[in-house]
Amino acid sequence: MPQIRRIHLGVDFGTSNSKIVFRDYGAPGGERAILVLRDGSFLIPSRVCAGPMEFFFGDRTSTADTCDIYESVKMQAAAEVTGDASYYFGPLKPLPEGFSFADLAVLVVWFLISEGQSAVSKYLGGNMEGVRLGMSMGVPMAFYKHKVLRPFFLSVARRAWLIYRAEGPLGPVLLIEKAKKVFARHPASAVPETPDYDVRTWIRSEAEAAMCWPFQSPAVAPGPYVKMDVGAGTSHASLYRIYGDSQTPKRGIAFFGATSVAVGMDAVDRAIADSDGRAGDCLELRGTEQAVLQSNPKALAAIKPVQEDIYVSYKRAWIETYRKLQEYPPELAAWRVHRMFSIGGGSLVPLVIDSLRIHPAGGNIAIAPTVLEPPPDLFRADGNPIAQGDLPFSAVAYGLSNIDFSVPEALTPDEVPPMPERNERRKRLDRDDLYAK
Ligand SMILES: Nc1ncnc2c1ncn2[C@@H]1O[C@H](COP(=O)(O)OP(=O)(O)OP(=O)(O)O)[C@@H](O)[C@H]1O
Ligand SMILES: [Mg+2]
Repeated sequence: MPQIRRIHLGVDFGTSNSKIVFRDYGAPGGERAILVLRDGSFLIPSRVCAGPMEFFFGDRTSTADTCDIYESVKMQAAAEVTGDASYYFGPLKPLPEGFSFADLAVLVVWFLISEGQSAVSKYLGGNMEGVRLGMSMGVPMAFYKHKVLRPFFLSVARRAWLIYRAEGPLGPVLLIEKAKKVFARHPASAVPETPDYDVRTWIRSEAEAAMCWPFQSPAVAPGPYVKMDVGAGTSHASLYRIYGDSQTPKRGIAFFGATSVAVGMDAVDRAIADSDGRAGDCLELRGTEQAVLQSNPKALAAIKPVQEDIYVSYKRAWIETYRKLQEYPPELAAWRVHRMFSIGGGSLVPLVIDSLRIHPAGGNIAIAPTVLEPPPDLFRADGNPIAQGDLPFSAVAYGLSNIDFSVPEALTPDEVPPMPERNERRKRLDRDDLYAK
């Protein structure tokens, strides 16, 4: 019997772009993590394009003249399933008959798993013998805690996996008629129940995953930090402490407060577009925000309320933190000078991210940024090193690929909470059924 080699896909199903990192637990010489590329880029569009007969996935080039484009599938699915339209900021378009955004989300995740699998196969020179592939998908923390969105995204991940296992990999084109047949063969009701202890195997909070990298990096000193992730659909702030001192290795990590809001760069784009009465799809502004804001004072003024909405995540996370620290003056003092890691596409837009670097306790205290170094065990699939500019986008997928990593909540500042699941999860890697499902 060939030896089993476990490889875990971390699927960061993003609102605008998805990112995938796989971790090879059996790599000769030690674990390696690989950032998956599609057409040379690790930003894999999450949108779905629909022609008269077929769906296209991971497509960068189609325009609205040639097909119907469905952007922000993750947020449109959240809006659909909760009935809360405020999750989505782009234009509304009718779907092909018989489909929902939940269906499109399943198809996109099936496609992402397939891209991951194809990258694994290439990495192994086509020899997949003995490989056990597993996956974890990221969800915003607010979704992870939401009574409707948590089971919903769990079912998206599990159904996509089930379809992948039964039907094989999905390429970039799928006939709409075939999609209907696949869904008829694998209805949502076919997804088995997931026991509570297994939920984290399938879905994990993006916020927690993003802390993996700073914790492991030798360049990051112990201390209090805020991690700010400004994505297309959501923004998140986590306030956490890395425990240790300059003499000893880091002893642990725990968060004190963490909040995400369903507002991000898509809302910035909407505000910019509204400010100058721009016709068409505001999401076409994606990636151009800094240049537009720099040259257009009216647009800059118009995004102020959105910046405030994004800042709410930091404020709320600080309130949670403050409640735990208020009786510990030295710890409270230490938090006056915490530093900020910023990730997500919004971190590349100084006119957005700089406005968030103010201590939520008031007093106009500036929060200094911290720069991350690329992790030494992460490589691009083309063998090129990870560039500094890649980091804000790939931190979540990197953490998701690491099935060992979990961050406990700190209840008091003077006790380092144990990382309870660390060994437990490693033990479970030895359980075949974790990967066989
Ligand atoms: N150079 C860039 N490349 C891509 N996106 C950029 C760039 N600069 C700014 N952005 C903005 O960042 C957004 C994408 O950020 P990111 O990839 O972190 O979001 P996401 O993961 O898709 O969303 P979410 O985490 O909310 O689901 C784009 O929609 C765009 O508005
Ligand atoms: Mg994201």
